[in-house]
This record gives sequence, C-alpha cells and structure tokens, in this order.
Amino acid sequence: MIHVHPVERAWIVMGAVMLAVFAAAVFTSSLMGGIALPVPEAQVDPKLVATPGATSFGEPGLRELAPGQYEARILAQTWAFTPKEIRIKAGSKVTFYFASKDVQHGVHVDATNINLMILPGQVSKLTATFDEPGTYNFICHEYCGVGHQTMFGQVIVEP
Ligand code: CUA
Repeated sequence: MIHVHPVERAWIVMGAVMLAVFAAAVFTSSLMGGIALPVPEAQVDPKLVATPGATSFGEPGLRELAPGQYEARILAQTWAFTPKEIRIKAGSKVTFYFASKDVQHGVHVDATNINLMILPGQVSKLTATFDEPGTYNFICHEYCGVGHQTMFGQVIVEP
C-alpha cells in the first residue's frame, strides 16, 4: 500500500471533485443551454468548393426547405462570406453550412449557439431558430490574414 500524505490526499480528492463539477457543468449546459459540439458533417475539396455544379457551395445562399425552414450555404474565403446577408422571417429555423475555399476561418452568429471553425476541406453545420426580429451580425473569429477584420455579414430577421 502506497503511503499518501493526508494533505496530498486532500488535494487529490479536491482535484477529482473539481473535475466532476466541471464535467457536470458541461453536461448540464449542453442539455439546458442548447450547446452543441461541432461534429464532422462532410468533407469537400477546397479547390472545387466554389465551382458552380461541383459542390452545393458552388451556388451558396438561402434555400427554403419548408415554410419557415431554411438551409443556408455560406462560403468563406479571404476576406468575405458569400452571401454576406440573409433575410428571413421571425420564427424561422435555419441550418447553416459553412465551407472554406482557402484558409481557416471561423464564424459566430450573435445571440445564437452558432460558433464554429471553418476549416478548408470540412463542412461545418449548426442549426438556429430566430424568434426575435432584428439584425444578427456574424463575424469571422479566426485570424485569416490582413483583411480578417473586414470579414462579416448579417442575418436580418423581419417581423
Ligand atoms: Cu476569415 Cu478571419
């Protein structure tokens, strides 16, 4: 039996308890706060991603799947999102798909759970529902070169 000093034992227990508390916090927030971990959605060739007809990002934009249900394909490239603006009615549910044509980008949409990395070769996907009318800005939050700060767009939610 290894001898563990009582003080050291106390610290080990405290460390284990903290880990359990943090794990519980992550688990709880994922259930109650709608936090979703990004998972690999699909792969796409960055050289072909912007070519019309070659991939679904060849003609990026908003598509209505059903009343109030949309799919938005957004292409990221230095230093712009295409399209830069999306207009929907309040209460709409939008599944966003992002892909990069060149380097690593990121995206965060204000007041939603959408906060993703956009890696060349990967498709990033998350869904959000926009109940409140207003303008939701989205920005690139991964440094992608000298024009990084000009890379942004808007989701406009009309009443
Ligand atoms: Cu794209 Cu920063």
